[in-house]
Amino acid sequence: MCGIVGAVSTRNIVPILVQGLQRLEYRGYDSCGVAVHEASLGRQPTGGLRRARSTARVAELLEQVAHDDLQGATGIAHTRWATHGAPAVHNAHPHFSHGCGEAPAEAARAGHVALVHNGIIENHEELRAQLQARGYVFSSQTDTEVIAHLVDSLYEGDLFQAVRGAASRLRGAFAIAVIHKDEPHRVVGARAGSPLVLGVGEGENFLASDAMALAGVTDQIVYLEEGDLVDLQLGRYWITGPEGQPLPAGSRPVRTVNAHSGAAELGPYRHYMQKEIFEQPRAIGDTLEGLQGIAPELFDGAGLHGQSGAAAWRVFKEIDSVLILACGTSYYSGCTAKYWLESIAGIPTQVEVASEYRYRTSVPNPRTLVVTISQSGETADTLAALRHAQGLGMRHTLTICNVATSAMVRECALAYVTRAGVEIGVASTKAFTTQLAGLFLLTLTLAQSKGRLTEQSEEQYLKAMRHLPAALQAVLALEPQVISWAEDFAKKENALFLGRGIHYPIALEGALKLKEISYIHAEAYPAGELKHGPLALVTSSMPVVTVAPNDELLEKLKSNMQEVRARGGVLYVLADARTNIESSEGVHVIRMPEHYGPLSPLLHVVPLQLLAYHTACARGTDVDKPRNLAKSVTVE
Ligand code: M6R
Repeated sequence: MCGIVGAVSTRNIVPILVQGLQRLEYRGYDSCGVAVHEASLGRQPTGGLRRARSTARVAELLEQVAHDDLQGATGIAHTRWATHGAPAVHNAHPHFSHGCGEAPAEAARAGHVALVHNGIIENHEELRAQLQARGYVFSSQTDTEVIAHLVDSLYEGDLFQAVRGAASRLRGAFAIAVIHKDEPHRVVGARAGSPLVLGVGEGENFLASDAMALAGVTDQIVYLEEGDLVDLQLGRYWITGPEGQPLPAGSRPVRTVNAHSGAAELGPYRHYMQKEIFEQPRAIGDTLEGLQGIAPELFDGAGLHGQSGAAAWRVFKEIDSVLILACGTSYYSGCTAKYWLESIAGIPTQVEVASEYRYRTSVPNPRTLVVTISQSGETADTLAALRHAQGLGMRHTLTICNVATSAMVRECALAYVTRAGVEIGVASTKAFTTQLAGLFLLTLTLAQSKGRLTEQSEEQYLKAMRHLPAALQAVLALEPQVISWAEDFAKKENALFLGRGIHYPIALEGALKLKEISYIHAEAYPAGELKHGPLALVTSSMPVVTVAPNDELLEKLKSNMQEVRARGGVLYVLADARTNIESSEGVHVIRMPEHYGPLSPLLHVVPLQLLAYHTACARGTDVDKPRNLAKSVTVE
């Protein structure tokens, strides 16, 4: 999704801005751009802002800025993921305001105000009409251009005041960064609903939507909070509340953040997704590192909230149910956890798609533990659902999240931070399995707090968890067999995925992976549902992936597989040795190395990730940046 980088320095910051954009490319984008104040570098002393924009990759933007000799010590840059207006150069950011009453032809040259924006402005139509009535001419279909003109209309010699005034008139979600032709050494930013961080350098300051954009530039990061305004100047900065009021001392600490610049290296892999699939044994190992036993302090977010575990213990004792809120793959990890929470901890659990929950009338229970699950910790729908639940009086909140510094971790009372490492591929893989590891630990901890976990079963579960990295390694060794399946799938346009019980969410996740990156239409069903409708789709050209571990539903599942074969459907089955399912005509079996009890979903999802990956490679799609999708969905 959109990315912002901004800088106030004394050196030419164009390479830093473009490099920052490159570090944000993984979030997904369809156009990009950069604007600088040339006078900030002593060029063009008359002032004026210049920009370069492109619908090609950031690498091409780099060539364009070199060709145009675009340089400046103050500037802003952006990757755009289209919401209002098609991906086109005239809709790309930075947007300029040239003041009112000027012809659009002027738009090709210097601007008065340049602005980049993440988020969605809900009242843009109303503001556009007001600004047009005052003589502003629009050259894009975006909601963003409205903000640029609004800032210009409010400008009376102080950019901070103009941005403050504009921000107070906006409804919706935004993070913005703005420069003005009359103030060569100033960038003003605002945050309301979309992430924005400040990077503090030596005599220079930066803004970015993610600390990773500043890796290698500065590791001194301030996380801006909702409603914050920030004024960056040379060697100094101010952060205020939405009215421009000073904030309590120490409320926005500078943190040292290791943004893992090295994690962006591909190494021997063709794609980040492949790398991330193969990193799963390490990611699970890191996530569970040092795990001695089940204890509530595991959920204090590594001390992020300054808690000792006592808070978690009190909460776990008090709650009588769990409500899980998440989107996409994270939602499916929640669906998997529901089986564990109900069968092992005996706690009634509800799992809701965050974008639905936030808008429906529900019955709040103050004794519910609200659990959000998110890789990024910045997903707008999940954050909004969390705030909605809090607004309904549900104050026991916990997140399973991969980013320790994210809004989700900051806004939840308790946290379990997974250690998957930076996930670049849009299709989530290692984040999913590490979420499952965190959710299994949560299950055991809740079971313990409810007196449902014996010491013996705790020891057995922990042993199984510690063995997970090795078990995952054995599954990854199945890759050559999955590649031969992928050759068949690459020729198909539809696929069905079946599972039962706790493996139904794994079938859902397998189908999501396949459609997301190979663009093959895939659907997942609990196998018992086949005969209630989807069986009508089954013909000899329909591949049916079946997740078939040797569990208590195996015999039922075998009957469902017969229903498929009887209609000529071709089965692709993940089965362990004790299932007695063998390859035969129309039945392709990959033998899973071992049966893994309740943790089996963590293993069965891996061949499905590999299947999606190799099918996408065979079809030649852009695996890491599938069309229309973004890594971090920070708008509604
Ligand atoms: O960062 P989050 O886990 O909150 O993201 C939620 C979804 O947007 C994400 O899982 C999405 O479905 C992935 N592209 C799936 O591979």
